[in-house]
Amino acid sequence: MEATMENTRTTGTADVAWDHDDFQTVGTPGHDDPRMTAGNVDVFYGEKQAIMNVSIDIGANEVVSFIGPSGCGKSTFLRCLNRMNDTIDICRVGGSIMLDGQDIYDPSIDVVPLRARVGMVFQKPNPFPKSIYDNVAYGPRIHGLVDSKAELDEVVEQSLTRAGLWDEAKDRLDQPGTGLSGGQQQRLCIARAIAVSPEVILMDEPCSALDPIATARIEELIHDLSSQFTIVIVTHSMQQAARVSDRTAYFHLGRLVEVGPTKQIFTSPQHSLTQDYITGRFG
Ligand SMILES: Nc1ncnc2c1ncn2[C@@H]1O[C@H](COP(=O)(O)OP(=O)(O)OP(=O)(O)O)[C@@H](O)[C@H]1O
Ligand SMILES: [Mg+2]
Repeated sequence: MEATMENTRTTGTADVAWDHDDFQTVGTPGHDDPRMTAGNVDVFYGEKQAIMNVSIDIGANEVVSFIGPSGCGKSTFLRCLNRMNDTIDICRVGGSIMLDGQDIYDPSIDVVPLRARVGMVFQKPNPFPKSIYDNVAYGPRIHGLVDSKAELDEVVEQSLTRAGLWDEAKDRLDQPGTGLSGGQQQRLCIARAIAVSPEVILMDEPCSALDPIATARIEELIHDLSSQFTIVIVTHSMQQAARVSDRTAYFHLGRLVEVGPTKQIFTSPQHSLTQDYITGRFG
């Protein structure tokens, strides 16, 4: 059930204390070819501010990792990018988030097609209680993206192929998605997300429930998908961030402390908080 715009968005001055000090993100939050642009984003859960004045561009076809200690706001900020926070009653989002130059919090925006354009893959694989085929076909069907069964078959095959699951799934398309292994289920969820041709895919710790082999497959997949999609991934694994992402953003207590090319963040971080985190001093 969707919350209404009125109770999810704050504009200008909220009726709670804003925490706008002069903190500045270090590094390169901007991008030459932004697909999404977050400007001065604040997020509140009731009276408590969870995200403070975060601005960052997400570039077309780049993979951006969000890292930082537990509770620093990675998932909260990620969920702002496709208005998933609308589903949390006490959550309010301020600032602006643009997708291809359009404010996704504008009252004219319908969140259902928005979430097809900015898809999401969760920590715990969550296939629908439907067949493998129907999991992938679900989005194209509800969004009216195909005209015939043949076309739908093609989208299902292509999506499963791109998600690296076709060979394992092609002989059991009518069996329940929940009958697959954890790693296969996560690839099914990725196939489901890409079946509607999103522009951006958000992934919140997509490998944390998977073994190292399944994790490696998802990481490979992220790499392959980045030629066509823009990907934002939250991860607790610095090795994973280093392996899959072009840029890395370090969050700390609701602030975007530093963002820059992944290699640079891990080899020569500018901010002492980033340095402390990547050298394992806290987190
Ligand atoms: N639904 C919610 N209601 C109230 N507070 C919330 C809710 N979700 C998150 N918070 C609070 O917002 C802050 C940021 O949480 P968030 O889940 O975004 O952090 P995170 O960086 O994703 O942490 P983790 O690495 O543990 O997943 C925390 O203080 C958390 O307690
Ligand atoms: Mg989280």
